[in-house]
Amino acid sequence: MALLLLLLAPAVRCTSSPKRGLVYVPSTKHPADDKIWLTPPSDLTWYYNYQSTPSPVFVDTQLQFVPQLWGVPSGISDTFFLDSVKSQINAGANITYVLGFNEPDASTGGGSGISTDLAAQTWNREIAPLRGLGVKLGAPAVTGAPSGLTWLRDFFTACNCTADFIPVHWYGNFEGLASHIGEVRAAYPNQTIWVTEYALAHENLQDTQKFYNQSSEYFDRIDYITHYSYFGSFRSDVSNVGGNAAMLTQDGKLTDIGSWYLGRDATGNVPKGGAGKKDGFGGWGAVVVAVVAGIGALGMV
Ligand SMILES: *[C@@H]1O[C@H](CO)[C@@H](O)[C@H](O)[C@H]1NC(C)=O
Ligand SMILES: *[C@@H]1O[C@H](CO)[C@@H](O)[C@H](O)[C@H]1NC(C)=O
Ligand SMILES: *[C@@H]1O[C@H](CO)[C@@H](O)[C@H](O)[C@H]1NC(C)=O
Ligand SMILES: *[C@@H]1O[C@H](CO)[C@@H](O)[C@H](O)[C@H]1NC(C)=O
Repeated sequence: MALLLLLLAPAVRCTSSPKRGLVYVPSTKHPADDKIWLTPPSDLTWYYNYQSTPSPVFVDTQLQFVPQLWGVPSGISDTFFLDSVKSQINAGANITYVLGFNEPDASTGGGSGISTDLAAQTWNREIAPLRGLGVKLGAPAVTGAPSGLTWLRDFFTACNCTADFIPVHWYGNFEGLASHIGEVRAAYPNQTIWVTEYALAHENLQDTQKFYNQSSEYFDRIDYITHYSYFGSFRSDVSNVGGNAAMLTQDGKLTDIGSWYLGRDATGNVPKGGAGKKDGFGGWGAVVVAVVAGIGALGMV
């Protein structure tokens, strides 16, 4: 009996980690859900919103903002992102990281669909100069599809540049996630890794929770994974990664996963619903990102 309890002990311990951040997906229908992410106790230390400027609700809170240049601006000499981040720093904001393009290797489902050449030019103009201000640069966040790492390799060739960390997106099982991260690590051994979108999408609750547990234990244990942000922070009935992956129920209450992610105990709140599973879902991020051009699509449901 004692041995059995000992064996079970690690599995039932609620885990806590400063690596956790929020992928902020605003809900125009339920704006009051925002306060869930600001209510203590919470493990969240940082957030991003796919945009260059902070979300008003998180200004002057404990969450550190990480700006992202989601896609390429239309003008070839545009420096909006660069200027925006510089002016935030000049105004006293603690910006120590930025994120490159969102899923540039995908043109659907939230991907920014950019050629590696255009991405390289844009990176060198809008992002690379920030390093001179002490900002760490996150590589473009490609999908977990095999084409993602090909895109990234071609991008680095085209820009003749380096990133300080490599963001990873993953929608699939734990074995696939661990193997993908191994592949990224082999290709970029000198950079740390951020897992900026991940979930087991469209599966039953038990498997989804098991995946969540295994992945957080893994991320917390591996030193070179310094940040991670679960997808995602929305209600189950509008989730495009399946209702069971959501951190909130259809009624806006924390699910077990949502509560565990904040470093708390299970709530027992069972999520229901989920926005339709997309045809051709391949187990990776190409079709699942909810945000188009920086506007929360989930919020418009
Ligand atoms: C700024 O953020 C970094 C983490 O990214 C943290 O280590 C540092 O203490 C923060 N600085 C201030 C002045 O808050
Ligand atoms: C790439 O950048 C390095 C400096 O970082 C420079 O020495 C080299 O000439 C560049 N190569 C090309 C092809 O621009
Ligand atoms: C990693 O860094 C080491 C030491 O700076 C360097 O020799 C090596 O070429 C780098 N590897 C890659 C793949 O950039
Ligand atoms: C996940 O971990 C929690 C404790 O953090 C535990 O209560 C739960 O049983 C675990 N679920 C699965 C499916 O592993």
